[in-house]
Amino acid sequence: QAAPDAHPAPDGTLDATRAAAASCTACPLHGQATQTVFGEGPQDARIMIVGEQPGDREDLAGRPFVGPAGQLFDEVAARAGLDRGQFYVTNAVKHFKFVARGKRRIHQRPGLSEIRACKPWLNQEIALLDPQVIVAMGATALHAVTGSGKGITSRRGHLEQTRDGRAVFVTFHPSYLLRLPDAGHRLEQTELFVQDLTKVRQML
Ligand code: URA
Repeated sequence: QAAPDAHPAPDGTLDATRAAAASCTACPLHGQATQTVFGEGPQDARIMIVGEQPGDREDLAGRPFVGPAGQLFDEVAARAGLDRGQFYVTNAVKHFKFVARGKRRIHQRPGLSEIRACKPWLNQEIALLDPQVIVAMGATALHAVTGSGKGITSRRGHLEQTRDGRAVFVTFHPSYLLRLPDAGHRLEQTELFVQDLTKVRQML
């Protein structure tokens, strides 16, 4: 089934959209991944978190942000006075992209064509949720949500908008922090992540 039109039917529900996305073949990633990992969280959430794509653990579990990046995100959110139960959590791309190396599946960054193919699902989630703020974590989410692929470094910690005027707060992807080799640098960047999510809480 092809991805739906970017404008959801007025009577659409998240459950119906999730069910439709489960059989999406709009890009080649569905061939290799275990399953579509759709967003989850309360329908009345005021904050929508957007990541890049499911990782190995998410692909197997069928749920977003349940692996190491998700655990770090939960810790940082708790330090900012926020709880996972307050968020709707999703990804720009809803299938895991990887290359197999022996038994390991190595994450590959999704390309523009995959981001575009998946965008109607993200658009539907945004339209149905109608969140007060969208938190774009990392470059892929930021590109998907704002349409601008300009570097994230100068944009992080700031408020932007979607093309139709929704508030987008720009922050790190937790996997970026997990990859930093220097402990001191990681600590410093983690503090900035806590500050960012604190700003998000203060927007509510
Ligand atoms: N990284 C993401 O961007 N999303 C997930 O769901 C897990 C890891």
